[in-house]
Amino acid sequence: MSKTFYIETFGCQMNVHDSEKVIGTLEHEGYAQVHDETAADLILYNTCSIRDKAEQKVFHRLNEYKRMQGEGKKFAVIGCVAQQEGERIFERAPFVSIVAGSASYRNLPTMLERLEAGETRITGLDDRQTDETFDTEFTVRSNPHRGYITIIEGCDKFCAYCVVPYTRGKERSRTSASVLVEARRMADEGHTDIQLLGQNVNSWRDPSGRMSFAELLTEVGNISGIRRVRFTTSHPRDFTRDIVEAIDATPTICDHIHLPVQSGSSSVLHTMSREYTREWYLERMSWIHSAKRDISITSDMIVGFPGETDADFEQTITLLDAVRYDGVFAFKFSPRPNTPAVNMADSISDEVKNERLRILNDRQREIQREHYARHLGHNVEVMVESYNQARGQIVGRSSQNKTVNFTVPIGASEPPIGSYLPIHITRTQPNCLVGEAVAGVDPLQATHQPQPFVVLN
Ligand code: 5AD
Ligand code: SF4
Repeated sequence: MSKTFYIETFGCQMNVHDSEKVIGTLEHEGYAQVHDETAADLILYNTCSIRDKAEQKVFHRLNEYKRMQGEGKKFAVIGCVAQQEGERIFERAPFVSIVAGSASYRNLPTMLERLEAGETRITGLDDRQTDETFDTEFTVRSNPHRGYITIIEGCDKFCAYCVVPYTRGKERSRTSASVLVEARRMADEGHTDIQLLGQNVNSWRDPSGRMSFAELLTEVGNISGIRRVRFTTSHPRDFTRDIVEAIDATPTICDHIHLPVQSGSSSVLHTMSREYTREWYLERMSWIHSAKRDISITSDMIVGFPGETDADFEQTITLLDAVRYDGVFAFKFSPRPNTPAVNMADSISDEVKNERLRILNDRQREIQREHYARHLGHNVEVMVESYNQARGQIVGRSSQNKTVNFTVPIGASEPPIGSYLPIHITRTQPNCLVGEAVAGVDPLQATHQPQPFVVLN
């Protein structure tokens, strides 16, 4: 009788992609995926622990699962909370049989065998010891057009607030050869948009010494059939000028860089152990600003880190004005288990954190309102992602990773999902562009002939 599984995923793109690899591994082991948890023999819960009360949320969800345990189901908790909490999960939720962090997924087939043999407390908690990466040819990618490739796992940066070095282990890079084989296979299968992933993607170092990160971007971008190459998340400390040069030289490398700064104050950056100053970061911004292409920049920020004064916070606001980001994900600091910041007095009240978050988001929204207007009247190439029937619009994504809502000229047919076509931008909002497909461009034709990108400065 065939065995079935249901998987629920929280967290970053790395987690989403890990789940695609886990799904492929389970299917190879004879399991069939179901999308209704009540129909599953095995329920997997892929967890995230980046911020705030993540553990409580997991245990809360597990208690909901518990109500189903009488039906003979098995449960596995995987991902970052699994690695962080380890065997404590068995204590609080005894009906769970597998607890495994991402650094041990390559052992999943053995864990499944042990599960089938009746074992009840199976752990995969490799922590920072392992040198291995989880590469599998069985990855099940749900999106036939856009797909992820993990090029580096783990993190060696140890920022004072961050759990990732503890949950995902030390940095392990894949060889350029294995990344390129996977990228070519994806291109052959019809993927045109490839996103290279790593918690610290630009600290990727080719274990075979053949190429730099910027050269890897270029090589992937030169694969026939690939229209867009993205990469996330970069760390300012490892950000080199040749990345900007590669974007300028290779139209298929997307004109978007997500470079989290976290704070505009050098003193807070020092306490955060970010290993750079405001000036160092701004120098990297000046490289990007002086590129030939209009490269979109986005960032993550934390407000209310222990010791952040009003003057420090003001530095974050002035940084927004200096950089003019196209998007900022801002978070209130929350202490995380095992991290150095958990022992620093969480000196900023929730009220002040909320107020700083509001000021930051309001200012950034104003900047985006002004900055997005630079696209007005230009043609922006999109990849079609979905149809918004309710609003009679088609939703696409630009190379800069912006959402573009558009219509087609009267009488023209709807472009298929995954096709590329130029959109004339007629209106801009702080978070999206609005426009109409350029008349007379056959989307299928456009899909096979890359449009030259628009240089704005
Ligand atoms: N508190 C608040 N935000 C955090 N982030 C990471 N750890 C914390 C924390 N303890 C944010 C950072 C990071 C993003 C993924 O989450 O801004 O870049
Ligand atoms: Fe969450 Fe960080 Fe783990 Fe991603 S790596 S799932 S963001 S804790």
